[in-house]
Amino acid sequence: MTTLEAIRGRISANKFDPTQELSLQEIRELVDLAAQAPSSFNQQNWRFIAVTKKEDKEKLTALAYGQQKVADAAVTFIVLGDLRGHERLAQALEPSVKAGLIGAKDVEGWSGMAAKMYSDERMARDEAVRSGSLAAMTLMLAAQDKGLASGPMIGFDPEGVRKAFGIAERYLPVLLLPVGRAAPGNWPRKPRLQADQVLAFGSGAGL
Ligand SMILES: Cc1cc2nc3c(=O)[nH]c(=O)nc-3n(C[C@H](O)[C@H](O)[C@H](O)COP(=O)(O)O)c2cc1C
Repeated sequence: MTTLEAIRGRISANKFDPTQELSLQEIRELVDLAAQAPSSFNQQNWRFIAVTKKEDKEKLTALAYGQQKVADAAVTFIVLGDLRGHERLAQALEPSVKAGLIGAKDVEGWSGMAAKMYSDERMARDEAVRSGSLAAMTLMLAAQDKGLASGPMIGFDPEGVRKAFGIAERYLPVLLLPVGRAAPGNWPRKPRLQADQVLAFGSGAGL
C-alpha cells in the first residue's frame, strides 16, 4: 500500500471484530511507527497506554459513554501528551547526541528555549495536544498499511480515564484510539470539502 492509498483508504471505524487479538510485538510495532512522528524540538512528548484486557476495556468503554468499539477493537490506545515534556528534552535528545547529529551545546540551548516557551501553560497544553495528535495520525496510517482499522475518539471522560488508569497529572489524555480488524457495517469513505473551500493562497482573506 502506498502512502496515498493509506490516506485515501482510511476511515474512522465504528465496528471492529471482537474476536481478533494483536500480539505484544504487533502493538509495540504500531507504537514504534507512531513515534516516528515529528514533535517540537524532537521532544517526543507522546505516551501510549495499550488497553487489551477485557476488564480494562469494559472500564474504558464505560468512560467513553458506552462506545462499543473501545471494547471490540483488539487494542484501544489511550494517547497521552506530556504537559512537561520539555523537562525531559535532554533525555529525548540523547540518541541524537550519540549519533553525532547535535552537540551538548545544542541540547543546552534548546532546553533553555523550550523551558521559556512552555512556562506558558497554554503553550504546554497546545504542544501536548499537537504531539499526541500527530503521533495518533501516524499510528492510524501505519495501522491502515497493515490492514487494520482505527477510530480516533474524543468522546470520553478524560479525568475519569486519568483516575481509572492511574495516569499522572503531567499527562493529558488527548485521544482514545481503537485499532483492530474492521467488522462489516462501517461507514464507507466520507466525502470531504474541496481544496478550494479550505485553502487560501497568500492571505486569509478568502477563508
Ligand atoms: C479528534 C477526533 C475525535 C473524534 N471522536 C469521535 C468519537 O468520540 N466517536 C466517534 O464515533 N467518532 C469520533 N471521531 C471520528 C469522526 O467522526 C470521523 O473522523 C469523521 O466523521 C470523518 O470520518 P472518516 O475519518 O471516516 O473520514 C473523531 C475524530 C477525531 C479526529
